[in-house]
Amino acid sequence: MSQVSVSLIVLAAGQGTRMNSDLPKVLHPLGAAPMLHHALRAGQSLEPERVVVVAGHGAEAVARAARAFDETVDVVVQAEQLGTAHAVAQAAPLLADEPGEAVVLYGDTPFIRPETLQRMLAARESHEVVILGFEAKDPGRYGRLVTRGDELERIVEWKDATDQERAITLCNSGVICAETALLFGLVAEVGNENASGEYYLTDVVALARERGLSAGVVICDEAETLGVNTRAQLADAEAEFQRRARAAALADGVTLTAPETVFFALDTFIGRDTIVGPNVVFGPGVTVESGAEIRAFCHLEGCHISRGATVGPFARLRPGAELAEDVHVGNFVEIKNSVLDEGVKVGHLTYLGDAHVGEHTNIGAGTVTCNYDGVSKHRTEIGPRAFIGSDTMLVAPVTVGANAMTASGSVITEDVPAEALAVGRARQVNKPGLAARMMDMFRAAKAAKKGTN
Ligand code: UD1
Ligand code: CA
Repeated sequence: MSQVSVSLIVLAAGQGTRMNSDLPKVLHPLGAAPMLHHALRAGQSLEPERVVVVAGHGAEAVARAARAFDETVDVVVQAEQLGTAHAVAQAAPLLADEPGEAVVLYGDTPFIRPETLQRMLAARESHEVVILGFEAKDPGRYGRLVTRGDELERIVEWKDATDQERAITLCNSGVICAETALLFGLVAEVGNENASGEYYLTDVVALARERGLSAGVVICDEAETLGVNTRAQLADAEAEFQRRARAAALADGVTLTAPETVFFALDTFIGRDTIVGPNVVFGPGVTVESGAEIRAFCHLEGCHISRGATVGPFARLRPGAELAEDVHVGNFVEIKNSVLDEGVKVGHLTYLGDAHVGEHTNIGAGTVTCNYDGVSKHRTEIGPRAFIGSDTMLVAPVTVGANAMTASGSVITEDVPAEALAVGRARQVNKPGLAARMMDMFRAAKAAKKGTN
């Protein structure tokens, strides 16, 4: 099928009462991203010309989240939630003149696959209105699809359905596709004389049929239509998201030693032949190139790890951590907003924040960039091939030149020139016999104290 122009409408105005939350439902995190981003991402696969999010409850926060995903997204506010058709109608002023197809998604239905949306567009060749349906194991209160052969005659909401209609197991997912102008034309005709007093988007099917147009169903797996209405369903959705993300990583050629203990974010990217050990958590914004190794118990967020680098076990990479090729970050190391050039080694017990470390520099155990003075953050610059001795405190702003060294236990408050050795610690003094004399003194004092009791 040739690429048609698509307008995407994402319904996200509902409060989500059953979440029992101050946060709008679509902003609850799933795979370390707002739930809304999952629907936007599925829709993005259609390369839509326009994307409109219909917000209502918490509209400002929802708008911010939508624009964080993609700043070209438009947000319209549905002040009162009068039903799904009313929600779609809010997008009409922005989209009515758009050519091509309109696709409606729900912000609280995160698992619709891009392939499924493509199948819906393809089905538009045989039907003017295409609905995404699924065979429900427990049809509950879903809208029921009343079909005759290939044709979808109408959708009946559970509240309005007869016992006979409630026995139907083919259900409405909510996803719908039609030519944009037609969809808005039909939506404008929808009334609210029904059991809920709402404007049902589902009524567009019967209205299209009244015009002599054809409606059809594309069927997907029930797992794709999983909606989130409660915290329990959010937990189920998280488990499902992780299951899929693990399977996708394995299929992409990533080794997961213990897949069920690795947690991904929606935007995690990991290259081929990278190995991820047990109990690793990927927060938002992590990219790992091919052939890297993330050892057990790492927590990574907002960072980039290049080819051949090894991280962990027990390392924490925070936003802005940028590891070049063959960097080694070892146990109990935290890195934030710092660039480590090729071949840098940070083996143990170290904090690097707001720093740049030149290539092949070695950072000794217990090194700390003291980047915060209680008010502002300051930078540490370390040149290439330097050697930072164990337990060095680098009091920023400070610079250590190329090929320089710092002595162990130094507190570095002044810049260190290239090739210099900086010693910033008290000179050692040995007092002959003093240790033994002191021990005798302490023992005598303890014995005297016992005697008085
Ligand atoms: C809807 C469908 C039903 C389908 C089910 C699948 C209708 C009338 N019914 O029912 O056939 O089986 O979804 O989950 O469409 N929303 C708005 N503004 C509104 C109303 C809803 O933005 O005025 C948004 C909600 O935030 C939600 C989505 O639309 O994301 C669906 O609304 P919801 O009230 O959950 O619809 P259901 O009653 O579940
Ligand atoms: Ca619902």
